[in-house]
Amino acid sequence: MSVKYKYEDYMKSADYIKERLPELPDTAIILGSGLGGYADSLVNPVVIKYEDIPNFPKSTVSNHKGELVFGGVINNDGENDDFKSVLVMNGRFHFYEGYEMEDTAYPIGVFYLLGIRKIIITNAVGGINLTFHPGDLVCVYDHIKLAPESPVRGANISEFGARFFDMQSVYSKDLIEKAKECALSLGFSLKDGVYAYMSGPQYETPAEIRMLRTVGADLVGMSTVAEVIQAAQCGIKVLCLSCVTNYAAGVTSEPLSHGEVVRVGEEISWKFKKLVDKIVIKI
Ligand code: HPA
Repeated sequence: MSVKYKYEDYMKSADYIKERLPELPDTAIILGSGLGGYADSLVNPVVIKYEDIPNFPKSTVSNHKGELVFGGVINNDGENDDFKSVLVMNGRFHFYEGYEMEDTAYPIGVFYLLGIRKIIITNAVGGINLTFHPGDLVCVYDHIKLAPESPVRGANISEFGARFFDMQSVYSKDLIEKAKECALSLGFSLKDGVYAYMSGPQYETPAEIRMLRTVGADLVGMSTVAEVIQAAQCGIKVLCLSCVTNYAAGVTSEPLSHGEVVRVGEEISWKFKKLVDKIVIKI
């Protein structure tokens, strides 16, 4: 991708991380607003601060931490204890913070070099689809990016994949199906939706939300798509789980606030943790 980074930059980040991990997992998780608590539940954690990783961007939003946490997930279903190691990104990089799109997708290239082939991406979203309500968990099966930037603009890094690549199967049907089975076994269902990326940091206007609904979006958020694009190029499968934290602008007359987004994210974090634990073991 890159205008800014070379393959060697990614290698250097990956080598630093590799040296500190007891093993290399094949699954990573990116935590969205209000869902950061998940990292605290990992067994035998190894914490690596972003600021210590060569070439890694740094997080600036107050409630987003900036660390990678390697650790174990235990799923105890009463009969068997299953265990699997994962790498969790606690705090991500957003375009609205001033990063370039390639910065926001940088960790995905590093994950690829670490051997990660599945990523569970989580985020907080506003619900555009009128059947979605705060607290709902939604599997994203496609996205719309109206912003012109791309994380893979510039000289192509062929080690990551082709210059022109397909975007039709990055949201893995197989992972979505498994996630839905896991939710059902916990007694709730997951909805499906199309995620619209808006660059923020201002929330959308009611007119923008009406436009997004007209073009087929169900959810709106300010993250994720750059990461998904880089994953698609690398051939990493994505499961994107969105937590609806608010009705999108204009759906109700309530003002939108970041505090509310974080509060709703935290409120459903128990449900989210149980679901993600099950999914990690199953995939
Ligand atoms: N718009 C954009 N991003 C968001 C929203 C929203 O309504 N809620 C949570 N993240």
